Amino acid sequence: MRPAILRLAALTALAAAPALADSPGGRPVKMALPDGEQVYNQICAACHLDKAQGSPDGTVPALAHNAKLASADYPITVVMKGQGGMPWFSEMLTPAQVASVVGYVRTHFDNQYADPVSEADVKRIAAKTSEE
Ligand code: HEC
Repeated sequence: MRPAILRLAALTALAAAPALADSPGGRPVKMALPDGEQVYNQICAACHLDKAQGSPDGTVPALAHNAKLASADYPITVVMKGQGGMPWFSEMLTPAQVASVVGYVRTHFDNQYADPVSEADVKRIAAKTSEE
């Protein structure tokens, strides 16, 4: 896991630098990545790899051909809240970006879950507490 986390830290620093320079209060600004494919390639692929095959040592699961993506709630929850070695992205990505990247992985990499993922789905899950 360590190399993947280091790569993400480097990536986050790179992404945050120009955004921070533009924001007077120095508050972090959401990344400008217009669609799910770009979010995937810029962020998720750092750990899940380019074809969503997961890491060879098995520490990062494949998202390709993954039956756990059948219900959108599961990947939304993992992306918004993190899980184990997977960081949460609720501070880095907007609900619309989370919806588009989850929609992207559910319809690519040999996954065919075509029901759309909406921003409202992401907000509903963000509002849930972990006990529910
Ligand atoms: C820093 C590395 C890292 C990044 C970046 C990352 N993930 Fe993960 N992801 C993981 C790890 C590790 C797990 C396994 C977590 C666990 O269950 O212990 C995981 C698990 C998942 C799961 C659950 C898979 C399953 O079979 O249970 C989904 C869905 C997922 N990630 C989606 C994404 C998406 C979408 C992105 C981009 C927004 C992303 N991940 C970015 C490391 C990462």
